Amino acid sequence: MAASTRNAAVIGAQWGDEGKGKIVDLLCERFDVVARYQGGHNAGHTVKFADQHFALRLIPSGILHSDKLCILGNGMVIDPEALLEEIEKLRAMGVRIEENLKISDSAHVILPYHRAIDLAREEAAGEGKIGTTGRGIGPAYETKVSRYGIRVADLLDQDVLRDKIEFACAEKNAVLKFYGKPAFQPKDLVDAYFRHGQVLASRITSGTVLLNDQIRAGKSVMFEGAQGMMLDVDHGTYPFVTSSNTVVGGVCTGLGIAPKHIHRVIGVVKAYTTRVGGGSFPTELNDKDGEHLRARGNEFGTVTGRPRRTGWLDLPVLRTSAMLNGIDAIALTKLDVLDDFAEIPVCTTYKVRGATWKTFPAFAVDHHEYQPEYKTMRGWRTSTAGVTSYDDLPQAAKDYVRFIADETGAPITIISTGPRREETILRDEGV
Ligand code: GDP
Ligand code: IMO
Ligand code: MG
Repeated sequence: MAASTRNAAVIGAQWGDEGKGKIVDLLCERFDVVARYQGGHNAGHTVKFADQHFALRLIPSGILHSDKLCILGNGMVIDPEALLEEIEKLRAMGVRIEENLKISDSAHVILPYHRAIDLAREEAAGEGKIGTTGRGIGPAYETKVSRYGIRVADLLDQDVLRDKIEFACAEKNAVLKFYGKPAFQPKDLVDAYFRHGQVLASRITSGTVLLNDQIRAGKSVMFEGAQGMMLDVDHGTYPFVTSSNTVVGGVCTGLGIAPKHIHRVIGVVKAYTTRVGGGSFPTELNDKDGEHLRARGNEFGTVTGRPRRTGWLDLPVLRTSAMLNGIDAIALTKLDVLDDFAEIPVCTTYKVRGATWKTFPAFAVDHHEYQPEYKTMRGWRTSTAGVTSYDDLPQAAKDYVRFIADETGAPITIISTGPRREETILRDEGV
């Protein structure tokens, strides 16, 4: 592979659940290393092949290929209990997890008080809640930025861990008291988290040095994104976002690599739109079409099982995503889910307060203020499920694909027609 395309980022271009897991797994064979740069076990990445079905949360989807080195980067927030559980589950399914899984010593640790605060805040917010996954993600990033977080390296030194947990726990207990929730005993946490550190010790390393050494040695790296661009804490539908930088810029800070090492950005785009949790969703459908997308697309959360909100494809979202991430190529997923529609509207612009928007406005806009403007595409009403050749797609499906490429300015080099690895059209071997 040419040096200039060696490393690639695979990034969600919408509100998450675009099918990143499937695409990472599919492209994995071309890479030596797969690294996650942000998020935690709020992610749920599904990989299906043969009769197997994996749901990955913290561990990069590359782990299913036993010869790939997988790295959990410093930009992640890691719940050791969730990680140990995931390792055990995957091992029980025959996945090899030995020296092929490494954890950055600078990643931050999610503790039980983070989880409790996440849940308490959501409960207290009532109707205005964000609809988080309840995994403690936001509170853990908040502690990191406030500079009293516990890092993975701290799990290995009992004295350091004790000091840090005692300090943090006192404050977190005060917050929990505010919400009327029970306090945590620092001693119990120190004992439990030191033990977790001992179990994970052989995996804990300087992720930054490890990754840069790999790059220097000419290894190819895939940067696996979690969540989606519209959930980015800076660029998404704030405050209805996750607490990390999901955009490609997060790769540099979340792994400690220079921008010049990101050679290519693949944006994963679902052929329609979904979202879990609260916040704006201009093309949302609350009718039988939305119900059909949910049922046919099996749109229920991998992590929480919540029904996903569904709607038509939203080009202002994709244009924003292409701009922020510099998307070089699109992997379009779940085309088959649109098979039954006679007509498929696509949102081309919005009218907001009298102005036309081709990208997503950053200022807070009430849901009812978005007036999506649609172009109606012809449906194909033929099964595309499992199609593996572009030529075998009905003309209307080709038109749909072409329209998205033209409007976003990015070629669509992968088209996914089913959840399994083999249900894929690869249009450009150089992706
Ligand atoms: P991720 O978080 O971006 O990895 O996506 P999820 O795994 O949470 O959600 C995507 C869902 O769609 C999973 O259940 C996949 O198995 C499924 N999926 C992926 N690609 C396709 C496709 O092309 N067609 C269909 N029907 N399902 C797909
Ligand atoms: P993957 O990687 C879809 C959403 C939550 C909520 C908001 C904040 O599978 O695409 P958080 O727990 O992160 O504080 O919740 O972000 N969210 C996701 N939605 N896919 C995900 O991950 C998500 N991770 C978080 O539903 O709206
Ligand atoms: Mg998911």
